[in-house]
Amino acid sequence: VGPDGVKRFDLALQAGQTEFMAGKPVPTWGVNGSYLGPTLRVRRGDQVAMAVFNRLSEASTLHWHGMRLPAAMDGGPHQMIAPGAIWRPQWKVDQPVGTTWYHPHPHEKTALHVYRGLAGMIQIEDGPTGLPDRYGVDDIPIILQDKLIDSDGTVSEHFGGTFGMLGEQIVVNGTYDPFLEVTSTRVRLRILNGSNARKYNLVFADQRKYSVVANDGGLLPQPVLTDQVSITPGERIEIVVEFQPGESVVLRSASGSDDIDDGDFDLLKIVAAARLDSSAAVPDRLPARPPIEAVAGARVRKFTLSGASKINGREMDMTRIDEVIPAGAREVWEIENIVYAHNLHIHEVAFRVLDIDGQAPPAWMQGPKDTVFVPGKTTVRLAVEFGTHTDPVTPYMYHCHILRHEDKGMMGQFVIV
Ligand code: C2O
Ligand code: CU
Ligand code: CU
Repeated sequence: VGPDGVKRFDLALQAGQTEFMAGKPVPTWGVNGSYLGPTLRVRRGDQVAMAVFNRLSEASTLHWHGMRLPAAMDGGPHQMIAPGAIWRPQWKVDQPVGTTWYHPHPHEKTALHVYRGLAGMIQIEDGPTGLPDRYGVDDIPIILQDKLIDSDGTVSEHFGGTFGMLGEQIVVNGTYDPFLEVTSTRVRLRILNGSNARKYNLVFADQRKYSVVANDGGLLPQPVLTDQVSITPGERIEIVVEFQPGESVVLRSASGSDDIDDGDFDLLKIVAAARLDSSAAVPDRLPARPPIEAVAGARVRKFTLSGASKINGREMDMTRIDEVIPAGAREVWEIENIVYAHNLHIHEVAFRVLDIDGQAPPAWMQGPKDTVFVPGKTTVRLAVEFGTHTDPVTPYMYHCHILRHEDKGMMGQFVIV
């Protein structure tokens, strides 16, 4: 924080090496390091100033996924950073407590740049929540990714097939065979699916229940106790888990039937210390933002997802504005998926999932979000709250966050006027 009160972050996109298999370092990219980047912690009301220095040999961008900010600061495909250049976006943080993230967004190359390791978490604070919040102690960032390792130990960068990269080696925060030692009775896990395509169905090996406290865009009004939640690429979920002294449990992903969640995987082994600090109980109510309602007479926009690359029959065109949205609009977006698994992420907004094929979503999915799974042959309706940063020429994106689909053109552009 400078004397002017501005919170400054220096971020360098750079090359390095990382091991995803013992004794086999491979070339990777990272932000201020060799793989992934620092967790950025900001408070609502902060003025932030980023300096993003591209030390790579090719152009990229850095997009603030989930942040509410002006389109020119968004870091999408129109804000390319040439090798050797520095990009300096600034904005005022004005959104509820929650977990967002950053990753590159170069047109047709997002899959490769994210897979190589350019990503990190952003945590927004906004007053007390009653939830565990000691970073790295009882408030743990968990970035889930999968790698495809060739038989010679190198990491495959083949993004072919219907969904692109679906790896069998899970890494958490860039670490293979990860484990976490916890020292208190309740721990908050802020889980980000930073994978290219894989969906994770999160369960504990002993089927224990846990409290879901937040979705992508912030807190749920009250914790939801469950034993399984799912996240697809780009989504975040925050859970609070209880531990007994000395026990050891495994967070797993259970195989499902959604094209992108095949196979059972151990994600993270968690070992509780022999003596645990006792944590406060999870509050019955959380200081959540008011739910996003579908207002009477709201404009309804329909989007049809087809094949691996089309929204409403068209592929992304950097020179075409697909939708023009009035500042502060509340709309209903109806996403009809006529093929296999996709999801939809909308930049800049917060939305609530109204229904999935006419049925209410599970309680743990009813908080504010910016990315939603749209299973094959399913229609999802969203109540969307748009922001108020107007710019008639610089667009925001909406797209499938299965990165091969985004790169192939399953993306559109909107401006807020
Ligand atoms: Cu996570 Cu358009 O991005
Ligand atoms: Cu985004
Ligand atoms: Cu898709």
